Amino acid sequence: MFDQDGYRDHESVTWISDAATGLRAVIAVHSSALGPAMGGCRLWHYDAPGAALTDALRLSHGMSLKNAMAGLPLGGGKAVILGPVNDAQRGALFEAFGRSVDDLSGRYVTAEDVGVSVADMASVARRTRHVSGVTAAGGVGGDPSPFTARGVLRGIEAAVQHTLGRSDLDGLRVAVQGVGHVGGALCGFLAERGARLIVADTNAKRLGQICDETGAEAVALDDVLEADVDVVAPCALGGAITSETAAGLRAKIVAGAANNQLADPAAGSVLRKRGITYVPDYVINAGGIIAVGAEYLGGGSEASVLADVDAIGPRIATLLAQADADDEAPEILADRRAEQIIATARKAR
Ligand code: NAI
Repeated sequence: MFDQDGYRDHESVTWISDAATGLRAVIAVHSSALGPAMGGCRLWHYDAPGAALTDALRLSHGMSLKNAMAGLPLGGGKAVILGPVNDAQRGALFEAFGRSVDDLSGRYVTAEDVGVSVADMASVARRTRHVSGVTAAGGVGGDPSPFTARGVLRGIEAAVQHTLGRSDLDGLRVAVQGVGHVGGALCGFLAERGARLIVADTNAKRLGQICDETGAEAVALDDVLEADVDVVAPCALGGAITSETAAGLRAKIVAGAANNQLADPAAGSVLRKRGITYVPDYVINAGGIIAVGAEYLGGGSEASVLADVDAIGPRIATLLAQADADDEAPEILADRRAEQIIATARKAR
């Protein structure tokens, strides 16, 4: 594990297997320096268990950075369940996963990620209290996606102001790759603000539904990143921006919800050389963890959660301005700041 791609001084990695339900999963705790390691659970079909481990390691490290930058008293962790799962066993499988989360006694707190629903988390909640994204009591928590989409909207507004000098989104052209839970909600918000949308998704039914609801224009999967737009919002899976796709972008801004949008640091360099503003993924997509974090930690109100999500906008404005002033890539500046916050908390502990 210590030589594994993605390993970054993680505190622990737990492999889980439950023969009765077919559950196979990995829980990676990157850091609990700032608080319980919190991050969603992804259900995905991996070609090999090693790929699942790499994903869990990378995503949990990303959660540490995300939670630190969002100012949350939470560390970073992530779980991945190796799909496919037997639908007939789904409830029991998530209960088994919940038992494994409980075994970690609160060092890891789970919630939804790609492939996992609120109903799945309700199954987890039957076996552990270290779970969030289950109930939206008083408007706090539940499905994190609308909060994530709201934060991405705030980030787009800040990036548009910074890069294009515009304070409104009317007529702004935005290409959204992936119109699932977050991308779909984002399209709704953008359409309300008068933006013109271009969308693509592997799920034709979902794509049609979002086009009907928002007036978006659907394009082929291969065309969405190179669309003639102002903003590209990657909202599908990670790695959308490679050096090649970065070279072909026509947008001036990349700002979306997907985790790990840059396939590698070289992709970020290409964006920077081309004068394209990249809004670091884990800074812009923190709305969901802010909401489910408040649900888990308690004490928040709907108004305070929405205010914390809206604070993503000014945070990004400051980050982009500082990156310009320092002649630094925003993603490098964000990483350095987040790592500093975590290192300070580690020392204090
Ligand atoms: P989702 O599974 O609901 O949506 C993803 C969508 O992308 C699906 O509609 C899928 O059909 C589509 N898709 C998959 N491959 C594609 C491709 N190659 N081209 C175009 N579309 C493709 O997932 P969700 O929850 O909307 O998350 C989207 C992204 O945002 C993920 O990367 C996730 O990790 C990230 N994220 C989600 C958060 C949340 O609150 N749900 C919070 C923070 C990050």
